Amino acid sequence: MGNTFSFELHGRSGDARAGVFYTDHGPVETPVFMPVGTQGCVKTLSPHDVSQTGASIILGNTYHLHLRPGSEVIRSAGGLHRFENWGGALLTDSGGFQVFSLKDISRITEEGVEFSSHLDGSRHFFSPEKVMEIEHNIGADIIMAFDECPSSTASREVIYAAVERTLRWAERSLEAHHRLPLHFGYEQALFGIVQGGIHRDYRAYCAEKLVAMDFPGYAIGGLAVGESTQQLYDISRYTASLLPVDKPRYLMGVGKPENILEAIGAGIDMFDCVMPTRNARNSSVFTSQGRLNIKNSAHRLDFSTPLDPACTCYTCTHFSRAYLRHLYKAGEILALRLLSLHNIHFYVNLVAEARRRIVDNSFLEWKEETVHAVAGKA
Ligand code: GUN
Ligand code: ZN
Repeated sequence: MGNTFSFELHGRSGDARAGVFYTDHGPVETPVFMPVGTQGCVKTLSPHDVSQTGASIILGNTYHLHLRPGSEVIRSAGGLHRFENWGGALLTDSGGFQVFSLKDISRITEEGVEFSSHLDGSRHFFSPEKVMEIEHNIGADIIMAFDECPSSTASREVIYAAVERTLRWAERSLEAHHRLPLHFGYEQALFGIVQGGIHRDYRAYCAEKLVAMDFPGYAIGGLAVGESTQQLYDISRYTASLLPVDKPRYLMGVGKPENILEAIGAGIDMFDCVMPTRNARNSSVFTSQGRLNIKNSAHRLDFSTPLDPACTCYTCTHFSRAYLRHLYKAGEILALRLLSLHNIHFYVNLVAEARRRIVDNSFLEWKEETVHAVAGKA
């Protein structure tokens, strides 16, 4: 155990890459979709459910887990893998995104960010050093540097200041990470985050400086925060091209199925998004033929069609649209579980199919067809 994080490429199709990275909690084939488990679970699902979808890595949030139950509690449990009883790999985001979205209640200085808890208003302070300590207590296989994530529509000056601060905080994150002990005997790989909004010159500058710090992987942050879809694609492709070929690339917080497919085509390897779980709880379902709303009266008497006839998940192999519509409208918790299970299965398997297409070099044609199919209405 320890020093095992490594990344290999298995195939390419245009700029799209198929690879694998190895953690002390198993290998993760890329491209990969990582379900979001903010508070130590993927909302409504058990770890067994999540592993049935094919997911190999899930996300946790430093911000939420620090406020509740507190990272010392998780450390006492033996780390987040043991606490939540998840045998696969874990990644924690640094809180950089959460504390900056609490704009009116946070105060930013060079040292760090002071913010109020969304739970009880109590005051807290995050610095790169503090966040590394918390991420070490939580014990995820991949941990993220503490960054500043401004809105992508902020002024050039604001974005530039955030890039400079993100670089200084990346250095401090790296130093603190190397100083801290390995609490649980397995490796934690620290990833750097490229900021720079929609400005190519800032993205290039930020990427160059971070690459010189030699992180084992790199994230692209500060996207899907107000820019256009075309800008999202252009900046992800441009930023990916600046990153080392032999390290994984993670596009944070993206996105719709069609966004993920385009970003895979642009050379991105890792994704996370709350959409499959959040949309499920709002009755919105992703299918291979587009989106549908299970509350729709069109499904009232449909006893023979699953959510997605092409899907092999537990929900699709056991229940009709009519029954799921009934459960949802009746306010049954089971509806939220079954829809979440399907949506996560859909995302994880869409990305797994992209990987197979990259390996057999049929990705580009498949992507064109699939983007149109998944973006429409079922
Ligand atoms: N999640 C989505 N975007 C970001 C970002 O820019 N930084 C961090 N830390 N998390 C994110
Ligand atoms: Zn399904």
